[in-house]
Amino acid sequence: MIDASTKFIAIVGDPIEHSMTPVIQNAALEALGVNVRNIAFRVSKDDFHNAVKGAMALGILGLMVTIPHKEAAAAIADELDWLAKLTGSANLLHFREGAIVGYNTDGYGASQSLKDAGVDVGGKRIAIIGAGGAGRCLCFQMLLDGASCIHLFNRTLDKAMRVAKEVEEKLSCDKVHVHELKHDVLKEVLADADILINATSVGMHPNEDETPVPADCLHDRLTVFDIVYNPLETRLLREARQVGARTIDGVSMLVYTNVRAVEVCLNLTPSFELMRQRCIEELKRRASQP
Ligand code: ATR
Repeated sequence: MIDASTKFIAIVGDPIEHSMTPVIQNAALEALGVNVRNIAFRVSKDDFHNAVKGAMALGILGLMVTIPHKEAAAAIADELDWLAKLTGSANLLHFREGAIVGYNTDGYGASQSLKDAGVDVGGKRIAIIGAGGAGRCLCFQMLLDGASCIHLFNRTLDKAMRVAKEVEEKLSCDKVHVHELKHDVLKEVLADADILINATSVGMHPNEDETPVPADCLHDRLTVFDIVYNPLETRLLREARQVGARTIDGVSMLVYTNVRAVEVCLNLTPSFELMRQRCIEELKRRASQP
C-alpha cells in the first residue's frame, strides 16, 4: 500500500507507457518489504531539466532515465560513474545529499548477462550490430571487459565510423573495425566471430518477422545476444538456437539495470530471479492481449 511515508524511485522517458520497469521493480521492492515503490513518468525533452529538479524537491530517491534523455541526464549530473563519463550518457540519476550522481548501468547489464550464460568476453571477437546509443555503450563495455576486437556493423556507415573513432580515441586502442550492414560482409565477418550482439531495435514487437542478421550467417560456435527483450525470443535468437548457437535474451540486461537502480538508491540487493520471472510473465500477459 502507498501511504504518506512511501518513497519513490521513478523512471522517466518519452514514450514510457511500454516500460516494464514499474511492474518488475515493484515486485522486487514488495519482496524486500520496504516502503518504496517505482513509478513511471512521461517527460518530454523540453521538460527534462524541470522534472529532475522537481523530483529532487519531492524527495524522490533516484530517477531511471530512458530514451530520449540519457545524454541530458549525464549533462545535468554533478558526478558521473566511469561508463557515464566515457559515453556521455546516463540511465540512472541518484540524488545524494543534494548532489546528482549519474550512472550508466547498461554496460553492467550486458556484462552480467554474458557472465550468467557462462561467456567470458576476454580475448573474444565480438560483432555488434548497431551504432546508436546502445551499440556505442557496448563497444566501450566489451573492450573494457577484454574483448580482442569489435566488428561494428551499422546501416549508416558514417555513424559507425564516428563511434569507432571516438571509442578508439578514448580507450587508446585500434580494435574497432567498421562494416556496412550487408549480407556478404556479415557472412564473412561472422564466420570468425565468437559473440554477436544485436544492439538495434530490429526484430522488436510489433516487427517480430524482422532480423538484423540472415540465418545463413549464424553458426554453432557463436554466442548470440539480443538486447531486444520483447519478444523474449526474437527471430534472431530463434534462428541462432536452430543452428546450435548459445543464445542470450534481452530480459536479463533490462533486469540488471533494475537491480543496480535498487542497489544504488536503497543500498539493498533485490532478487534478480524474481524480477526476471515477473518480466517474463508480464511479457506473456501483454502478448496475449488483443
Ligand atoms: P539506441 O539508443 O536504442 O541504440 P538509436 O540511437 O536510435 O537507439 O540507434 C538505433 C540503432 O538501430 C542504429 O544503429 C540504427 O541504425 P542507423 O544508425 O543506420 O539508423 C539501427 N536501426 C534501427 N532500425 C534499423 C533497421 N530497420 N535496419 C538496420 N538498422 C536499424
